[in-house]
Amino acid sequence: MPYYDNDIIEEVRSRNDIVDVISQYVHLQKKGSSYFGLCPFHNEKTGSFSVTPSKQMYYCFGCGAGGNVFTFLMEYENFTFSEAMEALADRAGVELPKQEMSSQARQEADRRSRLFEINKEAAKYFYSLLRSEKGKQAYAYFTKRELSPETMQKFGLGYSDKYSDDLYRYLRSKGYEDELLKDSGLVTMDERRGAHDKFWNRAMFPIMDANNKVVAFGGRVMGDGEPKYLNSPETMIFNKSRTLYGLHLARRTKMPQFILCEGYMDVIALHQAGFDNAIASLGTALTSGHANMIKRYGKDVYLSYDSDGAGTKAALRAIPILKEAGITCKVINMKPYKDPDEFIKALGAEEYQRRIDEAENSFMFTIRILEQDYDMSDPESKTAFYQEVARRILEFPEELERNNYIEAIASHYQVGFEQMRQMVHHLGTKVGIVSERQPLKSGIQKKRTREDGMMQSQRLLLTWLVERPEIYPKIAAYIEPADFTEGIYATVAQELFAQFAAGEALNPARIVSMFSQEDEQRQVAEIFNTSVDGMEREADWEKAIKETLIRIKQSSMERKRQNLDATDMDGLKQIIEDKRRLQEMEKLHISLN
Ligand code: GTP
Ligand code: MN
Repeated sequence: MPYYDNDIIEEVRSRNDIVDVISQYVHLQKKGSSYFGLCPFHNEKTGSFSVTPSKQMYYCFGCGAGGNVFTFLMEYENFTFSEAMEALADRAGVELPKQEMSSQARQEADRRSRLFEINKEAAKYFYSLLRSEKGKQAYAYFTKRELSPETMQKFGLGYSDKYSDDLYRYLRSKGYEDELLKDSGLVTMDERRGAHDKFWNRAMFPIMDANNKVVAFGGRVMGDGEPKYLNSPETMIFNKSRTLYGLHLARRTKMPQFILCEGYMDVIALHQAGFDNAIASLGTALTSGHANMIKRYGKDVYLSYDSDGAGTKAALRAIPILKEAGITCKVINMKPYKDPDEFIKALGAEEYQRRIDEAENSFMFTIRILEQDYDMSDPESKTAFYQEVARRILEFPEELERNNYIEAIASHYQVGFEQMRQMVHHLGTKVGIVSERQPLKSGIQKKRTREDGMMQSQRLLLTWLVERPEIYPKIAAYIEPADFTEGIYATVAQELFAQFAAGEALNPARIVSMFSQEDEQRQVAEIFNTSVDGMEREADWEKAIKETLIRIKQSSMERKRQNLDATDMDGLKQIIEDKRRLQEMEKLHISLN
């Protein structure tokens, strides 16, 4: 949760009109009571992105992005809630109360900002060296690799001088003390030899975080030599498994996917060729930290790892990590070239685009690589291969999905669909994932469906309340916020009911800012932007409301009963009372007039 209190959050929110703020980023046109424009969060040609002044909220009917003015900045600028708060307070001239920081926290924050400064200074220094007499060789190196001056500028490329304490002396002259320089990872201190730069006589690549701040460097030897690349060590401001090279640019892409590659040069070459969605993890395998960062942008990932053995291995490791984070992933084939940089140099951007269009499903890729370990001319080995394929198909929780993969495998490997399905089924029975009586349908699956249904019911009732507030007094006696058991809905209900009870005009945007996470804010926006349709007759309406109410109440009672301690007599009495009221509700006639 944000650590500002609700009053100040609400003040900042209400002083920043959402139409004004979003207009700075998106061209909006008025249509009726809302404004429309092209959604900045997905690629579209018709404007499904709406901003509604009366609700002070935005919502995209195409991709479901939505929220209030805080959400917008969090999504668009990749701000945290506090950063959005500061930016908007600043914009509206609201003075925020000074945060009470412990002296230790203050020192730490101070140190972090000094490290950012040092990295920025160093980047500026390397940048100007590259463009000076001393940087001639490095400039020629980049040019030989076909980088244009604009590209070099866009990525802030630089050069570190031949002398091994050149940067050190420069930064000292700027007043930074040894202690801090050591922490920056740019300088190493040695008892006997004194201070040494980490990077000297290298072509320099500054590494930016998602907010455009330099946090580290990579340095390449110009030509052959070992080690080919050096990277800054991890520091207070550089966490390798949370940094993706190129993300500060790629996060603005209109393309529906990120292209994930291995090296600095790959990212740069792709951007230069017009693929502004390229990113790379640096000198480290993809981690779940990376995957979760990527997940925030709601895009698919197309892997463009090296086509050699090491690259294939890295791709096989990355796929399950992306899948675990819920990201759809495909694999780009770059053969016969080694990496995107070489591919584009040889065949050009159009051909690369064709490879993107033809990218392979990540499961089919995995299976194709797996096949290489089996001798398909030997019956026993071939059977073992299909067994392994069956085992992997079983990892898909949905029957429909399993069948789709069985179909794909069957047609690709010329085995019968039915045979393959049998194999999956038998294996599933053996390991107890699927039971004989309910073919290919696990208990886990059924439970999840029921929970999704409950979530839907609760969301529906909240939407109805928002759309038709006259329902509230009719049902207020029968339901309480705690009955909304799913996720954030209890909190939403609490605030909504409080607003109704106080007889105020509904303030949806205030409810949004009670949540500090973007996905939560998005869920609230969904409640407030779903329109109620379908039912012509009031009687159908009344029936639907009543049934939904009863379903929610029953589920909430069931949960209470399950959590009840056998000795809890009051709890038991409460349940009996609840049951009686439920029966009463079933007889109830909710009239909307
Ligand atoms: P180029 O030869 O310049 O085209 O390199 P590349 O971008 O094709 O990189 P490569 O595929 O060789 O390596 C991928 C990434 O791994 C690089 O961008 C570096 O981050 C990292 N890397 C490569 N070589 C080394 C090394 O010798 N040491 C370290 N620490 N990292 C390396
Ligand atoms: Mn390369």
